[in-house]
Amino acid sequence: MKAISQRSVGGPDVLETVELPVPRPAPGEVLVRVAATSVNAADWKLRAGLIDKLGAPPFTLGFDVSGVVSEPGPGVTEFAAGDEVYGMVLGRSGAYAEYVVAQADHLAPKPRTLPHTAAAALPTAALTAWQALAELTAGQRILVHAAAGGVGHLAVQLAKARGAHVIATARAVNHDFLSGLGADELIDYTTTAFDSVLTDMDVVFDLVGDDYAPRSLTVLRPDGRLIDAQGEEPLDDPRYFRHYVTPSGADLREIAALADAGRLRPAVTRVFPLSEVAAAHELGESGRVRGKLVLVPWAA
Ligand SMILES: NC(=O)c1ccc[n+]([C@@H]2O[C@H](COP(=O)([O-])OP(=O)(O)OC[C@H]3O[C@@H](n4cnc5c(N)ncnc54)[C@H](OP(=O)(O)O)[C@@H]3O)[C@@H](O)[C@H]2O)c1
Repeated sequence: MKAISQRSVGGPDVLETVELPVPRPAPGEVLVRVAATSVNAADWKLRAGLIDKLGAPPFTLGFDVSGVVSEPGPGVTEFAAGDEVYGMVLGRSGAYAEYVVAQADHLAPKPRTLPHTAAAALPTAALTAWQALAELTAGQRILVHAAAGGVGHLAVQLAKARGAHVIATARAVNHDFLSGLGADELIDYTTTAFDSVLTDMDVVFDLVGDDYAPRSLTVLRPDGRLIDAQGEEPLDDPRYFRHYVTPSGADLREIAALADAGRLRPAVTRVFPLSEVAAAHELGESGRVRGKLVLVPWAA
């Protein structure tokens, strides 16, 4: 099969097309023919060597998959060949490929109402937001940073689905987009410091990092929560929570139900063929992408 691999860490030009054997599903795993995958921020950070969770190259990136079950591994009963699934892939053989192996319990039936190119935008980003906002309740006031991005635009919709009042930081060019997704108040962070205009927030979801975490603590209620998916150093404050996404087929089933009910819509800014993955990474790294970038394999 064709796949994207890299022999060293570096710029987008290290990504190359290679021929690899189709992987075999072990017990509890499923072989999926990839219809689409997506670019996550972790992808370009891993590619560049800014994080090293996959170890040394060569490896194939791609945490998200939407596709068709090709072969369930031994002991897998919940999926059969031909099923349309979406989910998360962990490890060094990711979904930038024609076929990928995923753990069965990291997959769920694809949302019926979404094409593969939209479903592939969801797993990592939607699970990140879904799990971060699990304790959010109706009437709470939440501030979502980087609301226009891959995770943020889904967090806005999930927070609205939970009945929260949503305040979002984004450049003015993204305000209509975010209002359309339900954001109640918008702050253009290029002209207004959020910590100069907000107080008494119940929750802040930080997807930016740097000084956003300590500044976000200053706008929280005494019993509020700062959920940080981006910062490097945990802050010493009882209201601070470092958040990491966990693959979960069970959560993806609930996310699919929300998508099929029309309450969660991934915004796919652009679909690239995997042969143009370097261009997709360049765009992703700009930090200016609205919603998600999706990749489709050669023959798809
Ligand atoms: N911990 C975890 O498990 C986990 C999981 C997923 C992602 N993450 C992390 O979460 C972060 C966001 O991920 P993502 O996929 O959503 O990234 P992304 O799609 O690349 O985010 C791009 C968005 O960030 C916005 N942005 C950039 N600078 C901003 C600022 N200073 N204030 C407000 N918005 C700003 C941009 O909107 P404007 O054009 O409006 O500025 C753009 O739409 C990444 O660092 C990623 O590594 C962590």
